[in-house]
Amino acid sequence: MDIQVLVAYASKYGATKEIAEKIGDALRQAGLRADVLLANRVKDLTPYKAVVLGSAVYIGGWRKEAASFLKSNEKALTGRPLWLFSSGPTGQGDPVALTQNWRFPKALQPVADRIHPRDIALFHGAADVNKMNPIEKWMLKNVKAPVGDFRDWKAITAWAGSIADTLLRETK
Ligand SMILES: Cc1cc2nc3c(=O)[nH]c(=O)nc-3n(C[C@H](O)[C@H](O)[C@H](O)COP(=O)(O)O)c2cc1C
Repeated sequence: MDIQVLVAYASKYGATKEIAEKIGDALRQAGLRADVLLANRVKDLTPYKAVVLGSAVYIGGWRKEAASFLKSNEKALTGRPLWLFSSGPTGQGDPVALTQNWRFPKALQPVADRIHPRDIALFHGAADVNKMNPIEKWMLKNVKAPVGDFRDWKAITAWAGSIADTLLRETK
């Protein structure tokens, strides 16, 4: 069985890229084929049976590479199983509680509603002060967001595992 999955991502400082890579690894471990690519580098969705798309969250929005990918590929994505994820909240505890119930960018909700993704996940992110510019540092301080790496690899791997299970089951 040859199931090829695209994991496309948008990342400013690399935390989301590593999440996408972890998802790709977990899919491969489950026996699927996975390409992990920057969202703006993807040329053609034809080879892919399913797509996972994720972005870092900045001020309640997705990075433009991921937002453009979702909008410009609406038709192709509607015909494929699609999973979406965001990487954002820093701090301990439930990521949705940390964002006061933010789950997905408002601006993209209409397109997501038309495509009907299988799931929209929100994962903890990582904020590295050594990489941020002074305005970004000030902004995080202002909203009292903790800095550090809060990525929950167990939750990410489990989510990827459930994607693999679904695709393997549906392709039987
Ligand atoms: C200026 C700034 C704004 C941010 N805004 C949000 C936000 O609105 N919601 C959120 O959950 N996380 C927010 N974050 C946290 C980032 O989304 C998080 O650090 C993410 O994992 C970074 O991913 P990247 O390294 O792939 O760019 C913000 C971080 C910075 C520096």
